[in-house]
Amino acid sequence: MWRATHKNFPAGPSEGLARWSFGPLNNNPLEYFAKIARDYGDIAGLRVLNFKTIFINHPDLIEEVLVTNARKYSKGRVLRANRHVFGEGLLTSEGDFWLRQRRLAQPAFHRLRIASYAATMVDYAQRMLEGWHHGEERDAHQEMMRLTLRIVGKTLFDADVERDAQEVGKSLELLLEVGADFRRTIFVPHWLPTPANLRVKREVAHIEKILYRIIAERRASGRDAGDLLSMLLHAQDEDGSRMTDRQLRDETITLFLAGHETTASTLSWTWWLLAQNPAVEAKLNAELDAVLGHRSPSIDDLPRLVYTGHVITESLRLYPAAWGMARLAVEDHEIAGYPVTKGMGVAMAQWVVHRDPRWYDAPQEFRPERWEDDLLKRLPRFAYFPFGGGPRQCIGNTFALMEATLILATIARKFRLRLVANHTVMPLASITLRPRHGVRVTLESREKKQTEKLFAGEQSAVAD
Ligand code: HEM
Repeated sequence: MWRATHKNFPAGPSEGLARWSFGPLNNNPLEYFAKIARDYGDIAGLRVLNFKTIFINHPDLIEEVLVTNARKYSKGRVLRANRHVFGEGLLTSEGDFWLRQRRLAQPAFHRLRIASYAATMVDYAQRMLEGWHHGEERDAHQEMMRLTLRIVGKTLFDADVERDAQEVGKSLELLLEVGADFRRTIFVPHWLPTPANLRVKREVAHIEKILYRIIAERRASGRDAGDLLSMLLHAQDEDGSRMTDRQLRDETITLFLAGHETTASTLSWTWWLLAQNPAVEAKLNAELDAVLGHRSPSIDDLPRLVYTGHVITESLRLYPAAWGMARLAVEDHEIAGYPVTKGMGVAMAQWVVHRDPRWYDAPQEFRPERWEDDLLKRLPRFAYFPFGGGPRQCIGNTFALMEATLILATIARKFRLRLVANHTVMPLASITLRPRHGVRVTLESREKKQTEKLFAGEQSAVAD
């Protein structure tokens, strides 16, 4: 095992690679990577069967891989093994093809364009709240999943996926459960008819059916809705050819999946953290009351919802939806003096770096205040990287941050979410980090609570 700290790299890996088994990686990948970092420092060589992987744990090394030497890598094994799900979509495609698709999709994520989505985000959150009642028990994660799916459907594809939300949610749940088995994902070819593979196939087919319907409806209408789907449908190659339904399917399934579950999980973790940190919740509510009073948020409020933004930033630090990332070397080179040969993997984990005491005081604590006074500017660039970095940085980062902040503000203005006793919330580290059995909560209407308090106050004044 290479044992090194970033300050003191030896000239080369004289000790060779350590053997690691898939057992702990499958059972508890978060602890697995945290332990490697604790035991071996900023760079460690792992060998699992014949796969050699370098695990890096210092922001400067992560920058080297994701930014400085980005061209020397392709996406890692887990994402590549999921190509049958995402096809040649933005998340998994490579090279010139990826670049062309990224350029095509980019205008849909332009800051000004995203601003026009804000009203839909708030509107859909409010519609959801119309069905919420004081004292009711709900699974906050299911609610957030349905909401963010509808938002991505409406904003990017101008489609109301209300009736599909449940089906997509269930299929996605199963896909991510199966995806948490890294051994299966990497070693079992997806075409083998194993029970898990057949399940994946069935669930992907469910989601595809919905997407092909949306694509067919739009093609038939010939309508230019000015949204991402229209941009993709009308894009032409130099030879005049258009995207096939298969290409459109790959892009839309990628955006559907990457664009809703991540934000939903971020919000679910936020509710869970808030419920356990009443002082933070009180400060958040005070800001919402001061800035919004009795009205719903709009995009113009964002600059003043500073603490609300810090709550999301901190939640993404402790529970990053993308908890780890990987690359494969496509040419021989070095990382900090270590030879990296073609085909070797490089892995990094937001989960570990975001909890490193070198960058964060009391790293395990939920403290949105830490982001005051521009902490982000003082940190090394990759000490906080929930959206990755370099050319493959998340295309939806501004979309996601605005969406999460607006949804949090819309809901927290009206409800407190109290955790249901005896329901354990546990992270499931699949491709994304999600609460394994959801987040069961009891809804407490803030208005109702205030009225009750007022009433109780009047009663005691009468009694006095
Ligand atoms: C809190 C929410 C989100 C988180 C934490 C997140 C995280 C990430 C990360 C870490 C990557 C880089 C993966 C890599 O380099 O291997 C990524 C890529 C991507 N994300 Fe997100 N994401 C979020 C929301 C969204 C949203 C809302 C959308 C779209 C509506 C989206 C679409 C994408 C796409 C298409 C890529 C691939 C980009 C490319 O390679 O060109 N994401 N995301």
